[in-house]
Amino acid sequence: MLGTLKRAAKRAVRAIGFDVIKFPPVQPPARTGPAFPGDFTEDDKALYSSVAPFTMSGPIGVQMTSIAVDYVVKNRVPGAIVECGVWRGGSMMAAARTLLKLGDTTRDIFLFDTYEGMTPPSDVDVTHWGTRPAEYEEEDRRIGRQWLTGSLDDVKEALHSVGYDKRKLHFVKGRVEDTIPAEAPEAICFCRLDTCFYESTRHELMHLFPRLVSGGVLHIDDYGIWKGSRLATDEYVAQNHLKLLLIRIDRHGARMAVKP
Ligand SMILES: C[S@@+](CC[C@H](N)C(=O)[O-])C[C@H]1O[C@@H](n2cnc3c(N)ncnc32)[C@H](O)[C@@H]1O
Repeated sequence: MLGTLKRAAKRAVRAIGFDVIKFPPVQPPARTGPAFPGDFTEDDKALYSSVAPFTMSGPIGVQMTSIAVDYVVKNRVPGAIVECGVWRGGSMMAAARTLLKLGDTTRDIFLFDTYEGMTPPSDVDVTHWGTRPAEYEEEDRRIGRQWLTGSLDDVKEALHSVGYDKRKLHFVKGRVEDTIPAEAPEAICFCRLDTCFYESTRHELMHLFPRLVSGGVLHIDDYGIWKGSRLATDEYVAQNHLKLLLIRIDRHGARMAVKP
């Protein structure tokens, strides 16, 4: 009965030059893409979620830190883990959590930072898209924090919350230009450089790369963001005739390489 009526109505409407079409059902709001890449395991997601408030790295950066630690442990690459530029400590929390998961509690972890924020930029310290550090500094002041500062006490508390042996955690306060090489370990298995600017990155590479053991992992976090970081890295690689495949590991252009 209803069908007959509908057909009759359609015929009548068409007779005067129009048509009746079924209105599509209301669609649910479009879903944004998944927060994590599709291949992330529940462990990858849980690790990122546990350190996210303490790091500027995104899910891929955190996963890559964990993968690097997993790689050096499983391949018995000797040495300590070093990060220069730790901010609130999230990357090294991820490293320590991964070590605990793997049952390797023998590794020393060195966290080099001023714990008072960035040191002054030089003229080459500009982003690849042309913004200058002062613009970020201003923005930070507006939202009420000292530029990229994680205080030593806060970082210690964050790292200690992971449960890794406190005696293996070395917090080295000061400019890397003053504390490295004197306070750096002799052998390094994973060297994570994240102080953004030319002078500090150059200094770190000059003193720490020779201590990175063969098979060890180098990470340059700001290669795709700050021109100074890229320049320091490219100069060091060229001057030392290094055969390094610097692989892009996230959408921000961080690079990683295994030392031959
Ligand atoms: C981009 S943040 C590090 C982010 C951190 N790795 C993370 O996972 O979120 C840069 C850090 O480098 C530190 N820093 C910058 N220049 C430095 C220098 N010359 N010596 C020591 N630390 C420095 C700052 O205090 C800041 O904590």
